[in-house]
Amino acid sequence: MQKILVVDDMEINRELLREILEEDYIVETTEDGEKALTVLRQRHNETAALLLDLRMPNKDGFAVLEEMRENGWINKIPVLIISGEHAVEVENQCFELGVSDFIHKPFEFSIVKNRVRNAIELSASKKRLQQTVEEQAQTLKKQSQIIQMQAERLSKAKPFNNLMMEYRSVIMEVETRLKVLNAVFSEEYNRNPFESIKSRLKTPESIYKKLEKKGYPVTMENIKEHVEDVAGLRVICSFPDDIYRLADLLVKQDDNILLREKDYIKTPKANGYRSLHLILNVPIFLPHEKKYMKAEVQFRTIAMDFWASLEHKLKYKKDINETDEIEQRLKACADSIEVLDYQMQDIRDRIYSNPR
Ligand code: GTP
Ligand code: MG
Repeated sequence: MQKILVVDDMEINRELLREILEEDYIVETTEDGEKALTVLRQRHNETAALLLDLRMPNKDGFAVLEEMRENGWINKIPVLIISGEHAVEVENQCFELGVSDFIHKPFEFSIVKNRVRNAIELSASKKRLQQTVEEQAQTLKKQSQIIQMQAERLSKAKPFNNLMMEYRSVIMEVETRLKVLNAVFSEEYNRNPFESIKSRLKTPESIYKKLEKKGYPVTMENIKEHVEDVAGLRVICSFPDDIYRLADLLVKQDDNILLREKDYIKTPKANGYRSLHLILNVPIFLPHEKKYMKAEVQFRTIAMDFWASLEHKLKYKKDINETDEIEQRLKACADSIEVLDYQMQDIRDRIYSNPR
């Protein structure tokens, strides 16, 4: 049987409560706050609930609640106030201090019984939930440690490093092709079709996670087959039409193979994300062979890039409030950016088609 502590300065109340509860619980009683705290200091772990009077000599109910809060007991032991106090402010003050329930004197036997049972059950399920959450957090931590260890092992393996060298080469190859196009453009039309290129090689940890998520074991073959963005390039353009012109020129090069195109500019994602993604197979020339390697090339305007980097922060920050509102505002910004991009393009066209 679980233990309940009843604290009340009136003997008659203590005995009534004992009578109500002793059928289901082991009931201990004390007559003031000081004595109650002495009991709690020794046995707070074994106490399933506390029935607490407010007005008492020595230490009153509020003093007990304060100390329970300081020690963190208030989150573990459900407290039910049993009081003749009828002022709403007093009741609210108790709830602010963390009590589970407030029962008015004179009390009805069956109500006390039911409310005590409810408070104990609620507290127990809260504890179970907390435990589950803690266990899940532990499991996640362990999993992430395993992934980190495996990724570290992977980064020391020679075949893996060879493969990464090949992916670095394809990044250089695509970058060069884009830079050549840029040079031709600036010679012919006196302007640059892109502002900058950013590139990155996917980390071993991220490669590992992606394969794990897709359900494939980590092998060199599976990396080549199922991770399409080991070599990643991001081309930042000023205007939307530059994106399509550049992408088209790149795809038309006769040794590039377009494996997949995702046009999130024509069909934006629900969150507002807009970019053109190409998965290309591009040849690299090694000492004794020509080899095709995959590269993911994302094209976006400066404004779309600005948007995407802010939105990316939202995705990786799990501990923020008001996510819904932030998502809505980001979507509204994406819509404005679309209008802005085409207006800027239109202004550019007018500037160039209006020679004096
Ligand atoms: P990933 O598994 O993330 O690579 O997605 P996917 O294989 O479905 O391909 P997709 O073409 O949709 O996305 C590829 C990459 O584009 C992502 O890794 C991100 O870098 C970028 N991306 C796609 N969607 C979003 C988005 O909603 N917001 C931002 N900020 N970036 C995105
Ligand atoms: Mg990706």
